[in-house]
Amino acid sequence: MKLFILLATATTAAARCLPQYAMCPDFLGAPTCSDNNTGPLGTSPTDFTIIGPALQAVHESVQPPTGLALDNDYNIYLTYPRNSGQTPSNVVIADNFTSESPWPSASIQNCTAGQDVSTCFLNVQNVVLDSIGQMWIVDSGIPSSQMGSGDALPGGAKIMSFNTTTRQLIATYPIPADLLANGTNANDVRINNTLGTAGFAFITDESPYGSVLAGDLATNTWVKRLGNTTAVKADPKYVGSFDGAPLYAWNGTKKGYLTTGADGIALASGNMYWGALASRRFYYIPQSVLADFSLSDAEVEDGVVDPGQLGSEQAGFTADDNGRLYMLASEQNAIYYVDTQQSQVTEEVNGIPPGGSGPAPPENYVVKSLVRSGLIQHADSAAIMPDGYLYFCTNQLELRPANQYRNVDRRRGPFRSYRVYIGAGPAV
Ligand SMILES: *[C@@H]1O[C@H](CO)[C@@H](O)[C@H](O)[C@H]1NC(C)=O
Ligand SMILES: *[C@@H]1O[C@H](CO)[C@@H](O)[C@H](O)[C@H]1NC(C)=O
Ligand SMILES: *[C@@H]1O[C@H](CO)[C@@H](O)[C@H](O)[C@H]1NC(C)=O
Ligand SMILES: *[C@@H]1O[C@H](CO)[C@@H](O)[C@H](O)[C@H]1NC(C)=O
Ligand SMILES: *[C@@H]1O[C@H](CO)[C@@H](O)[C@H](O)[C@H]1NC(C)=O
Ligand SMILES: *[C@@H]1O[C@H](CO)[C@@H](O)[C@H](O)[C@H]1NC(C)=O
Ligand SMILES: *[C@@H]1O[C@H](CO)[C@@H](O)[C@H](O)[C@H]1NC(C)=O
Ligand SMILES: *[C@@H]1O[C@H](CO)[C@@H](O)[C@H](O)[C@H]1NC(C)=O
Repeated sequence: MKLFILLATATTAAARCLPQYAMCPDFLGAPTCSDNNTGPLGTSPTDFTIIGPALQAVHESVQPPTGLALDNDYNIYLTYPRNSGQTPSNVVIADNFTSESPWPSASIQNCTAGQDVSTCFLNVQNVVLDSIGQMWIVDSGIPSSQMGSGDALPGGAKIMSFNTTTRQLIATYPIPADLLANGTNANDVRINNTLGTAGFAFITDESPYGSVLAGDLATNTWVKRLGNTTAVKADPKYVGSFDGAPLYAWNGTKKGYLTTGADGIALASGNMYWGALASRRFYYIPQSVLADFSLSDAEVEDGVVDPGQLGSEQAGFTADDNGRLYMLASEQNAIYYVDTQQSQVTEEVNGIPPGGSGPAPPENYVVKSLVRSGLIQHADSAAIMPDGYLYFCTNQLELRPANQYRNVDRRRGPFRSYRVYIGAGPAV
C-alpha cells in the first residue's frame, strides 16, 4: 500500500515536473510540484520566472556568433570572430533559417600572405547598420593565431562600411597604429551619422586595460580615451555566474578570472553608453565630449557618468528611438533596459513624477527586465529595426572551453538568434 502511494506520487510528479525531480518524490503528504506554479514560490523546481513577451527564433547558426545586424530589407548578418582560432567565414549573410553565405564576398574573409590587411577581414567582431543604410564592420585586427589578445596589426584594426545592395566597399577607416598600444582590442562600434560634418564612430576596446575610441569620419582622425580607467576595465578578480554556475577563466586546472573590459555600446540621447563586460557596471558620457579632440584626458574622464550598477555581466547594448537603453544581461538569461528620457518614465522615482521632458537624472535610473527566458543563452549583440522588433544573437559564451574547468566545451549548438517585439525603432 505504501509502495503504491509512492509510485502514484512519482507518476503524478513525472507528469508535471522536470524529469530529475520526478525520480525523487516528495515526502508522503507533501503536495506535488507543478511546472507552472501559481501557488507559493519555492514549491516547484521550475519556480524561475519567465518574463516578457514571447521570443521568435529568426536564425540558427552552427558556430557561435558574436555579432548580428539586419539591413533595411531585413536580411540577417552575423559575425564569427577568430578569438579562439580560425573560422571559415568571418561575416555572413543568412540565406534562410539555417543556411549562410560569406558576405560581402568569399575572397574578403581571409587575408592572404602579403595582402594589405586593411583590405580584408582578420577578426571582425560585429556588424552594425547606420542610420543611412550603410553596413559597418569592426575588425579588431588581432590575428586568429593570437587567440583574441595581444597586439593588433596596424591597418588590420579598422572599421569598414559597405553598400548592402551592391555589396561594394564604401570606406575604410583604419585605427591609427599609435592608438593600438596596450593591447587595444576593438570589440564593437556605433555610428552617429549626424554628429560633426560626416559623422563619428565610437568603439569599445575590451582589452584588460580597456578604453573607448572616437573617430571623426570627415577627417579619419581618432582619439583613444579613458584608457586603463575603472570605467573600461573588468572588476579585479571578477567571478560572474552563468546558468546557475560560477564563472572563472581556466587554463586546464589553472584558475584565473575574466578580464574583458569595455564591450557593449549604444548611442542614445546624445550620449554614448557602454558596459565593462566582466563587471556589473555601465556608464555614459556625452558624445560631444568624446568628439571634442581638444579636451585633455582628465577633462574627458570628468565627463563620465556612473548611474549605478545594472545587476549583471553584459556583452551587448542597443538603444531605441525613445531613448531606451537595452542591456543584454547574460548572467540573468535576460535583456534589461533603462529609460534615459524622462518622458518615457512611468513611475515616480525619488520624488520626480513620471513623464516630463529632458533626460532622466542618472540617479533616478531604474533598470528593469524586458525579457527573461532559458532561450537567452548569452545574448551577445542586438539590433533594433523599424518593424519594432529587437533582434539578437546568442552564443553560450560562458560555456566555451576558456571558461570551463579543464577547458571542456560545454556549449551545445546550434546557436539561435531571436527577436522580441518592443514597439520602437532604432536610435541611430
Ligand atoms: C501558467 O499559468 C498561468 C496562470 O494560470 C497561465 O496564464 C499561463 O498560460 C500558464 N503557462 C503555461 C506555460 O502553461
Ligand atoms: C578561410 O580560410 C580557412 C582556413 O584556411 C578556410 O577553411 C575557409 O574556407 C576560408 N574561407 C573562405 C570564405 O574562403
Ligand atoms: C536554405 O538555403 C540553402 C542554400 O541556398 C538550401 O540548400 C536549403 O535547401 C534552404 N533550406 C530551406 C529550408 O529552404
Ligand atoms: C547602394 O547602392 C545603390 C545602387 O547604386 C544606391 O541606389 C544606394 O543609394 C546605395 N546605398 C547606400 C546606403 O549608399
Ligand atoms: C599605454 O599605456 C601607457 C601607460 O599607462 C600610456 O602612457 C599610453 O598613453 C598608453 N597608450 C595607448 C595608445 O593606450
Ligand atoms: C594601469 O593602471 C594600473 C593601476 O590601476 C597600473 O598599475 C598599471 O601600471 C597601468 N597600466 C598601464 C599600461 O597603463
Ligand atoms: C596555458 O598554460 C600553458 C602552460 O603554462 C601556457 O603555455 C599557455 O600559454 C597557457 N594558455 C593560455 C591561453 O593562457
Ligand atoms: C547624434 O548626434 C546628434 C548631433 O550631436 C545628436 O543630436 C543626437 O542625439 C545623436 N544621436 C544619438 C542617438 O545619440
